[in-house]
Amino acid sequence: MNRMAISKQGYAGGTEFVMLSARRERIDIAAHIIERCRTLARITDVPGNTTRTFLSPAMRTCMNTVKGWMENAGMSVSVDAVGNLRGLYSGAGTDAPRLILGSHLDTVPNAGAFDGVLGVLLSLALIESLGGRRLSFALELVGFSEEEGIRFGIPFIGSRALAGRIDESLLLRKDKSGVSVREAMRGFGLDVEAVEAAALDQSAIAYLEFHIEQGPVLESLDMPLAVVDTIVGQTRGEMVFTGATNHAGTTPMHLRHDPVAAAAQWICRVEEIARSTRDLVATVGRVETLPGAGNVIAGEARASLDIRHANDEVRINALETLVDQADFAARQRGLQCHWRAQMHQPAIQMDTRLSQIVCDAIRSTGVEPLRMSSGAGHDAMVMAERLPSAMVFLRSLGGISHHPDETVRHEDVAKAVDAGLEFLRRFDEAIIKAHA
Ligand code: GLV
Ligand code: MN
Ligand code: MN
Repeated sequence: MNRMAISKQGYAGGTEFVMLSARRERIDIAAHIIERCRTLARITDVPGNTTRTFLSPAMRTCMNTVKGWMENAGMSVSVDAVGNLRGLYSGAGTDAPRLILGSHLDTVPNAGAFDGVLGVLLSLALIESLGGRRLSFALELVGFSEEEGIRFGIPFIGSRALAGRIDESLLLRKDKSGVSVREAMRGFGLDVEAVEAAALDQSAIAYLEFHIEQGPVLESLDMPLAVVDTIVGQTRGEMVFTGATNHAGTTPMHLRHDPVAAAAQWICRVEEIARSTRDLVATVGRVETLPGAGNVIAGEARASLDIRHANDEVRINALETLVDQADFAARQRGLQCHWRAQMHQPAIQMDTRLSQIVCDAIRSTGVEPLRMSSGAGHDAMVMAERLPSAMVFLRSLGGISHHPDETVRHEDVAKAVDAGLEFLRRFDEAIIKAHA
């Protein structure tokens, strides 16, 4: 890229686009972002709450809505092979490098309005604030199609596609109705053969994600924004206990092989081990019993496990202990048990240099950013495998997330917009300097 190309295309430079946004009042921009988040929250697969899973009918409506907003902002928009919505706001030159902004559009069941969506819409507002001006780099805004792992039990399908990490075993995974990822993609009208083309090319140089904190730390310190240092590693899977189905009334207690009792014992051990290991969190969020009737001793019990720690070794050791504990609970009752691993995602550091630019940008708007780690998983975790990546957290009110009461303050969103615009200005300067 060269500077002539920039000036020929009318790049204004300096703080002009920041000033443009100042005139429009940041707080109005924040209100608009929040209103849009609430609009998307009404687009749901389950009437009465907010639930949008990978490639569902509600996801299509959501994508079309965001696509319209992106197009109005002067972006050219496409949908890639896994359903990521990708809006390109071109840079000043045809060979401009590309900064990726993004977060996810899917939700957990009965979600709030901000997890993921806020990052997409805040980034969109930054692009809108440019008012058509071109920077020395292009901006690609990605609304990831899948981050939560709800439909197929495996998260980050959207960002995996950009990182070139969609493999055959993922495409073969099935949802509860027996539909595979590949079939879901075809059913949605996507081109499975184009998966490789969804991966990032060499022009992508960095990734920035805005996201609500989803926890209580910022609020407890009365701080609006944080920059993430590390995203903790996580393992997800399912412990399956297999026993013998029998009659609940006629089978004496000492002749039973009840997998539900073993699962219950194991779940209590999960809680004990997590409580006694510093900073370890472990959750059994779903328990299923088969056949699942009150007067039938179950033949099978399945308990999900989500276990996270900033240190991968601590997480892996705890997991091994828990697998032993499941085996112990099973043997006590003459049962079988096995661990079905679904996902291991190592802890990852955000890029130091990029995070420093983000920190400096936040500071220069008069806000001191907290540096913290993220217990939640984010698309930035996967993007960081391919690109220098950074994340900004916005304070969550009451520390509530994955819940309809999840919310943010207008003033914090306004501060994040300020910081985002200042970041773009500084990033622009850095690129121009690098190519001078
Ligand atoms: C994503 O929301 C996660 O479960 O960390
Ligand atoms: Mn989430
Ligand atoms: Mn999220």
